[in-house]
Order: sequence, then C-alpha cells, then structure tokens
Amino acid sequence: MHSAIGLRWLLVRRCRALVSGTARAASTAAPSGRRRLPADGPGLAEFVAGSAAPAAPPPEGAELPVPLGATELEHGLGRRVLFVVHGCQMNVNDTEVAWAVLQQAGYQRAENISEADVVFIMTCSIREGAETKIWNKLENYKRLKASKGYTGSQFKVGVLGCMAERLRQRLVEADVGVDLVAGPDSYRHLPRLLAQPEDAGAAVHVQLSLEETYADVQPVRLDPHAPAAYVTIMRGCDNMCTYCIVPFTRGRERSRPLDSVVEEVRRLSEQGVREVTLLGQNVNSYRDMSGSRNSAKATRLAAGFSTVYRPKTGGTRFADLLSAVADVDPEMRVRFTSPHPKDFPDEVLRVIAERPNVCSCLHLPAQSGSSRVLADMRRGYTREAYLELVRHVRRMVPGVALTSDFIAGFCGETEADFEETLSLMREVGYQYCFLFAYSRREKTRAHHRLVDDVPPAEKQRRVAEMARLYRAMAQQLNTRQVGSTQLVLLERPSPRSPDSLLGRNDANVKVIVPRRWAGAPLAAGQYVAVEVTGASSEVLHGRPLERTTLQEFARQHDPPSAPNELLGDDPEASQCVV
Ligand code: SAH
Ligand code: SF4
Ligand code: F3S
Repeated sequence: MHSAIGLRWLLVRRCRALVSGTARAASTAAPSGRRRLPADGPGLAEFVAGSAAPAAPPPEGAELPVPLGATELEHGLGRRVLFVVHGCQMNVNDTEVAWAVLQQAGYQRAENISEADVVFIMTCSIREGAETKIWNKLENYKRLKASKGYTGSQFKVGVLGCMAERLRQRLVEADVGVDLVAGPDSYRHLPRLLAQPEDAGAAVHVQLSLEETYADVQPVRLDPHAPAAYVTIMRGCDNMCTYCIVPFTRGRERSRPLDSVVEEVRRLSEQGVREVTLLGQNVNSYRDMSGSRNSAKATRLAAGFSTVYRPKTGGTRFADLLSAVADVDPEMRVRFTSPHPKDFPDEVLRVIAERPNVCSCLHLPAQSGSSRVLADMRRGYTREAYLELVRHVRRMVPGVALTSDFIAGFCGETEADFEETLSLMREVGYQYCFLFAYSRREKTRAHHRLVDDVPPAEKQRRVAEMARLYRAMAQQLNTRQVGSTQLVLLERPSPRSPDSLLGRNDANVKVIVPRRWAGAPLAAGQYVAVEVTGASSEVLHGRPLERTTLQEFARQHDPPSAPNELLGDDPEASQCVV
C-alpha cells in the first residue's frame, strides 16, 4: 500500500538490526510451522517431562526462519497496525513486544480500524467465554472486509496469543477471514509472516520455545505516558493445574536473565515510569539459569506445598531479582503478578517487608477452600497449608493486603466444598478477588479424567454468592481505612469525574482525589499523601495532604497498620454473609 522507493538506506539499516534481532530465534531453529503443523499441539508429556528437556527437533520438512530481508521490511514501511488486546497483563506486555518487532520493520500504529492495514487481536483461551468474544470479533472483521471489498494484501487480520496457540490451523479453517496466526513465542516472525504473498494462504507460526523470553526485544509501550509499566520476567508454566489451559498455550517455564530485567527497569525509570509490575504466569517461580549470578540455591517451597514437577535447583531466584529491581530506583514502586502460593519462601517475604518500594500487596490465588477440590485441581496444597501460609505472610509482612482467584463449580464440587470456599474467603479477608465459573478446557487433565458435573446455572449462583461475600468484606476493609493517611501514586483522570484523578495506594486499591489541590493541578506520576475520607467496596476517596516522595513518606509513616487482618474472630465478619 505504501511505496518504499528512495528508502534503500533505511531498509538496509533496519535489515541489519533485524538480522541481529532474529539471530537467536534462528539459532534455536524454531520451524515456521506454516505447512507442517503438529495437528494437536503439545501434550502433557512435553510439559511435565522435566525442565531440562531438549528442544524438540523441527518437524520434518518444516521451514526454518530466515533473517528478514529487504522484501519484508519494504512490506512494512508505512503500513498501519491496530492492536486489540484481550486477556491478562502478559498479553498487554506481549503486545508491546510484538509492536517493538513490527515498528523495527517499518510498521506504524493505527488508532482505529478505519486507518488500519492490519489488525492484530491478542487473544486469551482461559475460559470458553474469552474465546467466544474473539470469534465474534473475527466475524465482525470478516464482514468489514467483505463490505469494503478488501483483498488479503489490503487488510490483514492476525490472531496472536493463547487462542492462536491453542486452535492453530482451526482458526484458518473456520473461514472467518484470518490471514495470520502467531502464538506467544512467535512474535519475532511477524514481519516475515505479514510479508508472505497472498496466494500462499494464511501464515501460521505456533511453535512453542523452551528458551524464548524476548530478553533482547525492548518493548514499545502502548501508552508511553502512563506512569506504570509491565516487565515480563518469565514465561510459561510447569504446574499443570488440572483445569488450566495456560501450560498448553504458553509452554514450559523459562526465565529471562536478571541483568536484562534490571536493564529494562532502569530504562523505564529514566523515562519517568514510577511503577513496574513484574509479570509471569508463575512470576515467583522465577529462576535465571543463565549463569552470570548462579547462586545454586535449592528450591525452598512454602511449608506444606508441593509441585507436580521434579524439584528444580540452581539459578538466581525471585527474591534476588525482586531485590535487584527494588534497588534500581527507590522512587519506583514494584509489584508482581501472578504468583503461585507455593513459591513464597521467607527470602521473598523479607524483601517485601523490608523494601518500602516493594508494595505490601500479595496475590495468593487459592482457587478453592476445600482440600478435596484442591487435590483434584492438583494445586499442591491443602486448605490448612494455605491458611498457614496466610498467617505466616501476615506475621512477616504486617498490614499486607491479600488478593485471590477462585473457581466455582469445578468438577465434583459439592455444596459442602463450596461452603468451605466461602469460609476460607471469610477467614482470610481479601482486598480483591477474581471469581470465575469453571470452564472445561480441551487437553487438560480435568477434561480427560474428571466430570464437569456442576450445572452452568449452579456455577453462576456460586460465583454470585462469592461476589456478594467478597464485596461485603472489601467494603469492611476499605471502611476501616477511613481517616488513615496513605501514599497514592496518581495515574490518570478519573473516568467518572473530570474534576478528579485516579491513583492507587500501596495495596493497589483505587483512590480518587480532586484534580486541583492547593491552587494548582495535580498530575499523573506524582506521589501524594492522602487522607482517606470515604470508601466503597471498590474505591477509596481521599483528600490530598501534601505532594511527597516514596522515600519521604516511608520515613514519616509506619508501614500500614494491618488494615487487612484475618476476619475469622471478628464479630463483624458474620455480617459479610449476605
Ligand atoms: N498463573 C496464575 C493464573 C493464571 S489464570 C495462577 O496460577 O494463579 C488466572 C485465573 O484464571 C486462575 O487463577 C484461575 O482462577 C482462573 N482459571 C484458570 N483456568 C480456568 C478454567 N478452566 N475455568 C475457570 N477459571 C479458570
Ligand atoms: Fe494455570 Fe496458574 Fe496453575 Fe499454571 S499455576 S497451570 S497458569 S492456574
Ligand atoms: Fe489468557 Fe493466556 Fe493470559 S490464556 S489469562 S492470555 S496466559
């Protein structure tokens, strides 16, 4: 659509950059997968056979990726790409990786569909509902293509991410106008896949890698002005919870070298970013095996926790990484998600407790409060071990805010099991909960071995009941904070009120403050000491007291005085059941 004439020098320069950028992908010999796809994707054996398993050889006859040449770069020049992002935070950061790769190849960003030459949908497969939304979007793009009479080279639709990995060729065969399919480890190949001639059919690359961490790709932030940024530190998951598709869509656990993470955080700090969230499917299983700082520490799991995989040894662990990231800029907040409860040894808890810029807010996904259901889920802990961890975390990190994920209606979950989940929620007192109805996913162990026997309406009833309980508890926790002084990092205008700004406290709770204070406007990226004046179950309202810094606030104020305590013995707690 756009001419590259006269830009030969630019092409040569970009070409060199990409040749070096793709060298690593080429050396790991990942096949392009366009013609010879494994019909059904990786199976259980590929994921649990031990983390040091060698890379699978490319299927016979598969194409090997070649360094990008002028054709691919010429193809990109001036073309505009629209990103539509679904799914978890990792998908946001992966989109920033894909965008970095495409920008290097000359693509520009489209702000809306009408100016796009390519639309990429970053997809999620975690539940059937997530995939249904994507199918509907694809139908819409197909209609748009038909109504405008576009050919494949004029307007391409690409499916990226977990659904691309899971469904592969099925996305192409469904006849919904998909031109490109690329899984989570395939983003380096996007320029080449996009440049593939129309008559070659849809371009598909879904080979998972044992090594890809995109450590050398500097993500280009989708919102360069946001004071908060994501940094992916590890990818994949070896846990194989029986309900979960993630190990199949994201592949084996692998971690990015510590130095590359620290370097990226340093760059973000120089750009003025005030908060980083370290990301990974099992972020606290982080283990840098690249050797430069190998501390050879053996894995220490939280007491009462186990794994389905062989215990791993060696490498630099999450506590060291967290500490190194916290050292980069004492004015930068550090958060991380999503952790697994098994990987909270005391070293990690100490870093959280001791560093003012590591937020005292932990996501401890419980999934269920019934030990029997937890065993069927293969979570590697019992209700008692989980509650002991909660008590231990609260002893070591006073005032810590806890959040969680729960699944309602897992295979065989009885009313009594569900009551145990409600009682666990009551006992812990979460600041925030993500609540899901169980959705059966092909290939998982639960799909093969267990019966999805809780009717959909009953799953929904249980989710609604958990939601009522969680909201009542969050309301109590937030109300207790009225009158306290909190450090708030201002993020953006409040979507509900043009005269207010939205920020977050250390516990990641939204706090709304007036946009103007002391005769001058407040701005995103500033730290403000705020007196909490009001609370709902979801947000706090506050009155700014002073502009401050993270270190200054930490010097003047004790850590939060346990606003989020166990509610088990609290007479008010029974009122949570509504
Ligand atoms: N790695 C993270 C979770 C990633 S998926 C962890 O282990 O905590 C996010 C959440 O989706 C999970 O915690 C779980 O609560 C939910 N989930 C995963 N698979 C699901 C399924 N098949 N049905 C319903 N919810 C599911
Ligand atoms: Fe899925 Fe999380 Fe379990 Fe991994 S640890 S299988 S991502 S729920
Ligand atoms: Fe969804 Fe994949 Fe994230 S399945 S939750 S986008 S890891």
